[in-house]
Amino acid sequence: MKKFLTGLAGLVLLLLIAVVGLSWHPALADVEQAQQSSFSVEQINKGAILAGIGNCAACHTVKGGGEFAGGLAVVTPFGRIYSSNITPDPATGIGRWSQEAFKRALHEGVRQDGANLFPAFPYTYFAHIKDDDVAVLYAYFMTRPLIKSVSPKNTLPFPLNVRALQTVWKWLYFDKTPLLPDVTKSEEWNRGRYLAEGVAHCAACHTPRNSLGGERKNASYAGAAIDGWYSPALTSANPALVMWSETEIYAYLRYGKTQLHGVAIGPMAEVVHTGLAKATDADVHALATYFSDLNGATKIVQNALAINTIVAKVTAQSSQVSNLYSDHGAALYVAACASCHSNSAASMNLSRPELGFSSTLFAPNPDNFLQVILYGIGRKEGSSAMMMPGFDAALTNTDIVQMAAYLRRSRTTQPPWLNLENDIVAMRRAHQP
Ligand code: HEC
Ligand code: HEC
Ligand code: HEC
Repeated sequence: MKKFLTGLAGLVLLLLIAVVGLSWHPALADVEQAQQSSFSVEQINKGAILAGIGNCAACHTVKGGGEFAGGLAVVTPFGRIYSSNITPDPATGIGRWSQEAFKRALHEGVRQDGANLFPAFPYTYFAHIKDDDVAVLYAYFMTRPLIKSVSPKNTLPFPLNVRALQTVWKWLYFDKTPLLPDVTKSEEWNRGRYLAEGVAHCAACHTPRNSLGGERKNASYAGAAIDGWYSPALTSANPALVMWSETEIYAYLRYGKTQLHGVAIGPMAEVVHTGLAKATDADVHALATYFSDLNGATKIVQNALAINTIVAKVTAQSSQVSNLYSDHGAALYVAACASCHSNSAASMNLSRPELGFSSTLFAPNPDNFLQVILYGIGRKEGSSAMMMPGFDAALTNTDIVQMAAYLRRSRTTQPPWLNLENDIVAMRRAHQP
């Protein structure tokens, strides 16, 4: 028995040594701080656009802090991982990193000193960024203002905090297969895919993950819960009443609002209004082309007449409320919401958002709906000209449960949301300072 245990311990030790050995990456040497003049204005401008599409600022800037100075907590089920300072400050940022070190971080998830980075940094997508694009990103970051700032320590428990062990995660979940152009598709589609699967990392929020934080195989873009929000499926499984066409996706990604699906809120509002806002129209169209093919909308001819019929049907039901006296949810809706939301004509009044088209009501997960009802929609989300008040203080949990049930039942054919009360309690708790 003793022999066996010694043997087992030896084996485990050997395995650990193998993991650490195989995970070894050389430290890359410090370089002289790059001169502004070593980059062209054109390079820097291109880099700014890509950094926008990659939404680097969303994770690398804390509210009220210096741009790209890091320190923002990415909350994972395993603990908090703080983003790094990626300004060119030589001591606390990446000012001493060579372009090679920067590229290795984006392509392999390895720090300048050779340690593994955690996949809270979406390098598994950035791995697809072409070398030319890495070069312009480098030019952009090396010419940002220097900010001295050290990020807080991560709160991952042992052994999850051991960076060497990330090598095992990489074996399991880091797919390094290069993204070769699909010659059966248009150039625009290929551009859309390149952006989506690479720097824009759309799947990071829209693809569900397994218990180890790896993307679930065969569930690409199937929809996922993230940090109090729900990123809907971008496949044919999307439950919207009218399929997301190229036109609708373009409008959503460009302006954050659509006729037939509602507005972009929460983390997606940030993707649209701070991230993609820097992208060219051609690139936003390319993304829309890729995703309207992914969900199958391009294969279906959606004629205007059919859509008008749906709009007429939805708006006809919009202001009709039956059972007002026996259904507490319906009565609350009329009292608290209908003054702003009901439509009565056969066409929609866009300044009265039609809930019969709101994605929040159709999703399998109620989080987006609850976020809106509890905390409203601010000026930076949705359409800039409109705001929606939050009902956090005005409505009880039971009120919300009943109103949500009423709206879901009367406007969609989706099954009821279960255990809604627990979700409301959890969301209210998460919002407490
Ligand atoms: C979803 C959040 C997120 C986004 C988006 C993001 N990062 Fe990060 N990044 C992180 C986190 C978290 C870390 C720290 C990871 C760690 O410590 O293992 C990090 C680390 C890095 C590092 C390593 C720095 C160091 O000192 O170790 C670089 C370089 C970097 N990011 C560049 C970028 C660039 C460029 C973009 C945009 C194209 C970007 N990041 C977008 C979260 C993000
Ligand atoms: C004072 C007017 C007002 C009231 C009252 C109001 N809303 Fe809104 N609501 C809005 C506006 C305006 C928007 C769109 C905000 C934007 O685009 O930035 C909106 C958006 C929404 C959305 C998101 C729609 C989408 O695009 O997906 C939902 C869901 C919603 N409201 C539900 C409700 C519910 C439920 C109530 C009642 C508890 C309510 N609202 C009460 C004005 C209101
Ligand atoms: C940081 C997380 C995050 C990233 C990155 C992200 N999304 Fe989203 N997305 C969300 C969330 C959350 C929602 C739901 C918000 C809402 O209802 O307004 C959403 C909603 C959407 C919707 C509307 C779906 C529906 O049924 O209402 C589309 C389309 C979409 N995203 C496309 C994209 C594309 C394309 C990208 C990459 C360019 C992307 N998203 C990147 C989080 C993200």
